[in-house]
Amino acid sequence: MTDTPAKPKRWVSWAILLVCMVGTFALSMLLASVMERRHEATVQKPLVEIDTWETDSSKWAVNHPRQYAQYKMMDDDNTRTQFGGSDPRDYLEETPNLVILFSGYGFAKDFLQARGHTYSVEDVNHTKRIAGKHDKAAATCWTCKSPDVPRMMAKLGENKVADPNTATFQELILAGAPEFYSKKFADFKDEITHPIGCLSCHDPETMALRISRPGLIEAFKNQGRDINDVSHQEMRSLVCAQCHVEYYFKGDGKYLTFPWDDGMNVEDMEKYYDNAKFADWTHAISKTRMVKMQHPDYEIYMTGIHAFRGVSCADCHMPYMTEGGAKFSDHHLQSPLLNIANSCAVCHRWSEEEVRTRVEGIQTKVREMRDRSEDALAKAHFDIAACMQAGATDEQLLELRQLVRAAQLRWDYVAANNGMGFHSPQECTRILGVAIDMAGQSRIAAARLLAKLGHTDPVKYPDISTKEKAQALNKAYIAGKGPDLLGRTPVAVK
Ligand code: HEC
Ligand code: HEC
Ligand code: HEC
Ligand code: HEC
Repeated sequence: MTDTPAKPKRWVSWAILLVCMVGTFALSMLLASVMERRHEATVQKPLVEIDTWETDSSKWAVNHPRQYAQYKMMDDDNTRTQFGGSDPRDYLEETPNLVILFSGYGFAKDFLQARGHTYSVEDVNHTKRIAGKHDKAAATCWTCKSPDVPRMMAKLGENKVADPNTATFQELILAGAPEFYSKKFADFKDEITHPIGCLSCHDPETMALRISRPGLIEAFKNQGRDINDVSHQEMRSLVCAQCHVEYYFKGDGKYLTFPWDDGMNVEDMEKYYDNAKFADWTHAISKTRMVKMQHPDYEIYMTGIHAFRGVSCADCHMPYMTEGGAKFSDHHLQSPLLNIANSCAVCHRWSEEEVRTRVEGIQTKVREMRDRSEDALAKAHFDIAACMQAGATDEQLLELRQLVRAAQLRWDYVAANNGMGFHSPQECTRILGVAIDMAGQSRIAAARLLAKLGHTDPVKYPDISTKEKAQALNKAYIAGKGPDLLGRTPVAVK
């Protein structure tokens, strides 16, 4: 016997090796099955095949119950944050100045906060803006409300392409779009019934994100870009940019067009609209040819810090969530302030309270600038009306009206955009600052003109402190019976 320790027997090492191998194998199988489960949850194998043109989102639910369940939560129209939420709050009641700024236009009659996507068809059917005019309003009004729109466009496009069987999804839609737009809203009442849904953003075969609106495809083309040649992260914003953008109805064919040819900043759009000599309506009080901005959410977002750092709309509005070990995108699109933990805390290590305070702080500052520009603009419209009462000619008012048009276009670029400036605070306050300055310039010119015409007293602004008073005033102006603004005895005004 020696005093050196006995060497372990050979079979022991082999046994250890075997145990390790079996263990590793078992562990990797377990891991693989977990990964498989996760993978399945993310890109589920379809249980049923979804038709190429399935516009009923509930049919997609069989394959993707989680996304559908979250999607259906948009039926809740009772949430509220300081400046947002899903309840249809009455903007005109909150801000009677809006009734004056939109005098003579539909938005002065009815302007409610947007609800969730599941209400899109119901809301467009009921808005007073086109109520009673469905046989006159353009079918274009349907465009951002329903996946039945691309379906109908493709149907109209079938006999306009060389071979409908080989034409791509987008080719069919583009071929049918002109005919679709040139029809009337009422023409599609029976066909367009499903609210914004799965087909609005997804290819049913692959579930990949897909663009189904001609406006965005064409706007990209005009800028020399191809909408099908963008990064995945960009797509997570561009699916929203199909609708959450500024657009207008071009020409007699009411062709839905994005005014992006000169760029997406407000100055670029102003140039575009001025070159096209475009106006949405003539203001009932100041007789100025006005442009109504829609909701340039994407354009404004693009100028902000989050776009700069590659954060997409979906990152904040469709954050990942987990359920039973499955990770998927939250399809309940809403104010991120109602879900700060998932929407912001992923990137920002601030408490929920800090995030909310920070956002509301930014929004309150933008709102303050908005209030000031609205006040200046409302008065600028009345100042021009006062000049008209004093006998000013259209020629004398040319510059004043140009300034008011430019100022209100800027104000509206910010006001119509969702999120009260949060998406790009600096750009929004810059634009509102310019709007206030331009409205002020118009008012100074009006004061000079009034003096020249013999009126040096202050203009007598009517009471517009409530929605009702402001709307009654609009009615009077539309009937050619605006009140006397020069402090004389009441007269009827042309
Ligand atoms: C960094 C996160 C973030 C990104 C990115 C982002 N948003 Fe928002 N969004 C917000 C916040 C915060 C609000 C303010 C919500 C409120 O006031 O309750 C908001 C508000 C909105 C609202 C109004 C919601 C409401 O309830 O009032 C819409 C619509 C919207 N965003 C669309 C978009 C679109 C479209 C994009 C991309 C072009 C986008 N957002 C990008 C955070 C984001
Ligand atoms: C407004 C656009 C939009 C609508 C409408 C929409 N989705 Fe999505 N969906 C997205 C985005 C954005 C993603 C994230 C995709 C990515 O990053 O690849 C996504 C992802 C998915 C995924 C991949 C897994 C996941 O959750 O990330 C599935 C499955 C899905 N959606 C199903 C649906 C179904 C079913 C509907 C209809 C009930 C629907 N989607 C409606 C935008 C939309
Ligand atoms: C097909 C057009 C369309 C697409 C695509 C679309 N939206 Fe919307 N969105 C709308 C319309 C229309 C409304 C207003 C619906 C209503 O009030 O009836 C709306 C409302 C909203 C609201 C308000 C809901 C609330 O509770 O405040 C948010 C937030 C929103 N969209 C975010 C997004 C984001 C983010 C994307 C992209 C992932 C997107 N939308 C894609 C048309 C669209
Ligand atoms: C995917 C990551 C990501 C998400 C999600 C995100 N942010 Fe950010 N946020 C950033 C980045 C990156 C910056 C730039 C500053 C930096 O680099 O730290 C930023 C900056 C900010 C700033 C400072 C802006 C400034 O100019 O002062 C605020 C405020 C902010 N985020 C709020 C939010 C809120 C609110 C949400 C949720 C609705 C949110 N963020 C979601 C990445 C994110």
